[in-house]
Amino acid sequence: MGVPYHQRTHNCGELRQADEGKTVVLAGWVNNYRDHGGMVFIDLRDREGITQLKFNPETDPDAHTIAGSLRNEDVIALRGDVAHRKGNINPKLPTGEIEINGREVDVLNKSDTPPIEISEHTEANEELRLKYRFLDLRRPPMRDVIMMRHRVLKAFRHIYDEMGFLEIETPILTKSTPEGARDYLVPSRVNPGTFYALPQSPQLFKQLSMIAGFDRYMQIARCFRDEDLRADRQPEFTQVDVEMAFVQVDNVIETTERAFAYVWKQIKGVDLPLPIPRLSYDDALRDYGIDRPDRRFGMLLKDITEVAGKTDFQVFKNALTAGGVVKAICCPGGGTLTRKETDGLAEEIKGIGAGGCPVTKVVAGDDGKPALSTGIAKFFGGETVGQLIERTGAEIGDAIFFASDSPANVNKYLAWLRETLAKRRDLIPKDRDEFCWVVDFPLVEYSEEDGRWYAVHHPFTAPRDEDLGLLETDPGAIRAKAYDVVLNGSELGGGSIRIHSAEVQQRVFNVLGISEKEALTKFEHLMSALRYGAPPHGGIALGLDRIVMLLAGLESIRDVIAFPKTQKAFCPLTSAPSDVADEQLRELGIDLRPEVKAKRKPTPGS
Ligand code: AMO
Repeated sequence: MGVPYHQRTHNCGELRQADEGKTVVLAGWVNNYRDHGGMVFIDLRDREGITQLKFNPETDPDAHTIAGSLRNEDVIALRGDVAHRKGNINPKLPTGEIEINGREVDVLNKSDTPPIEISEHTEANEELRLKYRFLDLRRPPMRDVIMMRHRVLKAFRHIYDEMGFLEIETPILTKSTPEGARDYLVPSRVNPGTFYALPQSPQLFKQLSMIAGFDRYMQIARCFRDEDLRADRQPEFTQVDVEMAFVQVDNVIETTERAFAYVWKQIKGVDLPLPIPRLSYDDALRDYGIDRPDRRFGMLLKDITEVAGKTDFQVFKNALTAGGVVKAICCPGGGTLTRKETDGLAEEIKGIGAGGCPVTKVVAGDDGKPALSTGIAKFFGGETVGQLIERTGAEIGDAIFFASDSPANVNKYLAWLRETLAKRRDLIPKDRDEFCWVVDFPLVEYSEEDGRWYAVHHPFTAPRDEDLGLLETDPGAIRAKAYDVVLNGSELGGGSIRIHSAEVQQRVFNVLGISEKEALTKFEHLMSALRYGAPPHGGIALGLDRIVMLLAGLESIRDVIAFPKTQKAFCPLTSAPSDVADEQLRELGIDLRPEVKAKRKPTPGS
């Protein structure tokens, strides 16, 4: 018998003063316990909140005895009466007006002492949190974010359904789709020596869905990429994946904006100003040095090549002789940066390849007008001082940082500096969401290292119609019908209008060094589908994890995934990836190389 936990009357976040006098059944975890002058108080917790239970030895001795033996994280069921707390109202809890006088309590399960504290903040390191993720997820901030993630998913599904999109599932065991990362491979037992690839995205299947005539596709899709992990990258992540037939760039952009506006309204209660501003790829690089600009603050990059050419600073001269450029950014209030701080930045920036980071400060000159002081000030004189100050918009009290090298390197260094300085000096307004689209990406970029062209998005992205003629003559000059959506410096999503002609697709493959024969082996399904009435189509994929991360104001993607992997693509909870039994390998026709075998750490039981 006991308390019928399966017939709970309320959750732990639900009861209010209006429920006074009701007999209720609750179940949950002991969040904490206190003994006050013989009365035992328990905070009972479940997903929805906390309710205080009170056990009186006079009126309910049995329940009181059991309550006195409870420890944190024990699981209990309780029958009791709702009472007003009178003078002891806890305004911090939604249920703080009431408590439950415990009449009967059942211990459903005892808990060992948890290795991490189930509290708002934890001192536990991430490895331990991930090992005991089932406990970590009990902590209110983790629980809240997982519940928010559910609402974000629901909102996306709802709005795309409203707009006529069908959710179509695509295979996980499939063939390689090139999105620029390594594939995760799955060996086939039935066909020894052959492998499936886990999808880096459902790219080709969503295109095939358009060719199949489904017109509007969406999927909450799991993607797998074996790439270097960062705070905003996981080997396994989720996309809101979208594709539409008979569309041009504007249609996809407008539909995506509608989806974002709906989700932001549902989750944050705010009205996103639409349309989201668009920035060309070239302008983004010119002003921010990066194709995912954080537009919450200024500090734009300014080309000062001409001014720099008039100085005697050898570093500038060398860069200019080598055909490079010089750009600068102004750090507002940077005059207070100490020598130690600027030296520190010069050291750090070497980590991304720069030789250092020249700097100078703007001070009041003898005549009260802005003048340069410290750092490389001495190389500027006469008209160049005024020109530099005018070009960078610097004012007295600011610092100006420089980079001189190839345009790509200069952009890389200054984009890093801009972001680093803004973060460290607290120059980024909080609670502000600055969306933008970056459009007009180049179709392909050349790798000097590999001596070949690579697709900037993926090989199925359509060139702009007016640039088609350049495919065989000047591929680097071709602009793509591609777009990225960026929020506060994070790339939230990317997509494009696709090539729907087999002939154009092969011409793009040719630029990428994929011969007709190779295209037939790798993409036969696509090449064949393009020949059977493929409609014009395009789409986008939004990184769901990143969206939730930004909505929740968090900095690590791992904090918005229930069961994520570490930076080393390891799961401390399950110890995956792990060794497998020799027998399994034999069935798959796989023999480990001797050097791998020597390092093998057999998992117990395998
Ligand atoms: P793309 O490769 O740009 O496009 O991916 C789309 C979005 O997915 C997110 N994302 C990731 N999130 C977490 N961890 C990762 N490892 C990771 N990699 C990507 C980003 C990114 O903007 N098939 C195309 C889309 C299309 O053309 O429609 C694609 O996958 O937020």
